[in-house]
Amino acid sequence: MDLQLLKSSFRNIFNTEPVLVKSPGRINIIGEHTDYNDGFVMPAAINKAIYVAVSKRDDHEIHLYSESYQQKHVSSLDNIEKSEKGWANYILGVADQIKKRGYNFTGFNLYLDGNVPLGAGLSSSAALECATAFALNHLNGLGISQMDLALISQKAEHEFAGVNCGIMDQFASVFGKKNHAVMLDCRSMKYVYIPLNLEGYKLVLLNTNVKHSLADSAYNKRRLQCEQGVAWVKAHFPKINSLRDVSVGMLDEFVKPKDLDIYQKCRFVVEEIERVVKAADQLANGDLVALGELMFATHEGLSTNYEVSCKELDFLVNFVKDFDGVLGARMMGGGFGGCTINIVRDERIDVLIEQVKISYKKEFNLDLDAYVVETGNGSELAV
Ligand code: GLA
Repeated sequence: MDLQLLKSSFRNIFNTEPVLVKSPGRINIIGEHTDYNDGFVMPAAINKAIYVAVSKRDDHEIHLYSESYQQKHVSSLDNIEKSEKGWANYILGVADQIKKRGYNFTGFNLYLDGNVPLGAGLSSSAALECATAFALNHLNGLGISQMDLALISQKAEHEFAGVNCGIMDQFASVFGKKNHAVMLDCRSMKYVYIPLNLEGYKLVLLNTNVKHSLADSAYNKRRLQCEQGVAWVKAHFPKINSLRDVSVGMLDEFVKPKDLDIYQKCRFVVEEIERVVKAADQLANGDLVALGELMFATHEGLSTNYEVSCKELDFLVNFVKDFDGVLGARMMGGGFGGCTINIVRDERIDVLIEQVKISYKKEFNLDLDAYVVETGNGSELAV
């Protein structure tokens, strides 16, 4: 990203000097749909980010400009309302949350640009929320902790975007660390950085370039299904509050007889939480073959049991299954489109990308994008 250009674009619109903030998108090695079930996740921040240029205003107005959409939006701090412009809601939602927590801050100008592909499941929206939260905190010296920046951003997504997401994306966008994944326990919110030593291999994202409209409603429905499963177990074990504490045996006994669909959903989550714990050991031991197998198992579960995949994602995972040099692959993120994440041997990356692009085009008449992942740091001032 050209920071000088970012600054001059801001100056042209707002006629004053900005502060620049950068918040990255994320990948997730393993641990899907586990965050809102008090489980573990293992995301990493990437070197693609949302950039915001911001300055304080003397009044209570909020003036926004999106470079990608070439759109302006003006609102007031005194009456923050949802906009019909999706992009603006992520910013307004964060301002609203900070205000609701009782912090005093001034109106602001914000210019937004970035290089996280939109709608690709790389959490560009979480990155925008975190960049806004970081910027308002910095500009006004509010002293909000990093964890609260992530939680504020998550709440903004719930209230202004209507997706009851877990904490993974916003956490990764704030806490990411170059060359590391971070394993987060979403119950205690304790985390450890795990060095991403992939000697001879790289992580490759294959972007389906589709985002099926089902995504948000299905996500919220899965969340409710998990809660229902927990409630049935809790009736017998009152101390249990989430799938984190539930075993397959409990599901067999208390959920399966009630609803097979909910049983399948809950069972996937319970097994996925176990896979993350195993994956952490495998990554630490450099056992990429075993890690790859777990990733395939996660995909199978997401596709057939949790039912959040789609034909494009399944095609890409099937394509690489027997491809020499690919150790593991799975769909990544909420589902119904976006990217698959693949562990691929260095010298096989180019040929894989070339071949999969041709086959994908043939099958769906769609172009596929591929990115070789580089990790990056979490939200910070951009200089
Ligand atoms: C989306 C949500 C996350 C997480 C993933 C699935 O990215 O924002 O909180 O639940 O889906 O793992």
